[in-house]
Amino acid sequence: MTTKKPICLTGVKPTGMPHLGNYIGAIKPAIEMGNSGDYDSYYFIADYHSLPGVHKAADMRNYIYEVAAVWLAMGLDPKKITLYKQSDIPEVLELNWILSCFTVKGLMNRAHAYKAAVQDNEANERDPDHGVNMGLFTYPILMSADILFLKSNVVPVGADQLQHIEIARDIAQNFNHIYGDKFVLPKGIVRENSKLMVGLDSRKMSKSYNNHIPLMSTSKELKKLINRITTDSSDPSVPKNPDESLIYEIFTEFASPEEVKNLREWYLRGIGWGEAKMELHKLLDTKLERPRAIYTELMSNKSKIDAILAEGRERVAPKARDFLREIKQTIGVL
Ligand code: TRP
Repeated sequence: MTTKKPICLTGVKPTGMPHLGNYIGAIKPAIEMGNSGDYDSYYFIADYHSLPGVHKAADMRNYIYEVAAVWLAMGLDPKKITLYKQSDIPEVLELNWILSCFTVKGLMNRAHAYKAAVQDNEANERDPDHGVNMGLFTYPILMSADILFLKSNVVPVGADQLQHIEIARDIAQNFNHIYGDKFVLPKGIVRENSKLMVGLDSRKMSKSYNNHIPLMSTSKELKKLINRITTDSSDPSVPKNPDESLIYEIFTEFASPEEVKNLREWYLRGIGWGEAKMELHKLLDTKLERPRAIYTELMSNKSKIDAILAEGRERVAPKARDFLREIKQTIGVL
């Protein structure tokens, strides 16, 4: 008897080059999980989730390739992880409607992204719904459809997405309560002891604060950005606390245990911030050299990305078709 592996799924919203905080908090752990072979893994590019905010076709197309190329460059193995594009599976949108009929509106009112938009409008004395389209409002329903149609067991995400997984469980339970256990309840997985990575200026690392380090920066760009990391003005000889240093934190994500140990001891002995920054630059530059080369090669041969996504679609499409047939029979339209 072959035991079935748990199904692991995650979605990646194409909105531009991911930064180091995205990589460390979400991309790296998800790739490790998928590549481990312990799961039956499906990762997809959530292009329809970008649509509420991206209304330029050329941007959309570019973001899709960019995000696929970054994940592949950072080590996603398409033989172990089925990589596909959300919009290639139209059944997801059929399920989206079906699920929306089992979603109480109040659940959407409470979703973070929508609430943040409303609060921002109120703070700026605008109409609360200014700039809010229905795609943004019902975003968590589409995300539920993504998760539920593949019967996902575990969903690795950044901490900010946990609420959406809870919403998917809620919606699934509403449906199951009426029709029996048709949907598998998913579990969100956040990397252990994850803390939000701070940016170059000590606020949360975010593209919108322009305090981030884009993952595919050139060596020169990296150096400039690392030099911008805020540090105090203490003398090089003064011992430094590695556990409160962004430079050290990033270093540990890319270094060997030996290298981490050495830098840690250097911090405790006293390290100059200039030296610490140089160490980080040296390490990142080396570790990102190969991913950069793969990324550049994929972006100049997009047909390779197309082929990988087409293969993913072929694997996922029959599952989507079968499951939707079952759900349509369940609700009585078939
Ligand atoms: N909302 C997720 C994000 O912004 C992306 C996403 C879309 C997703 N559908 C998903 C993540 C399904 C996990 C499962 O990061």
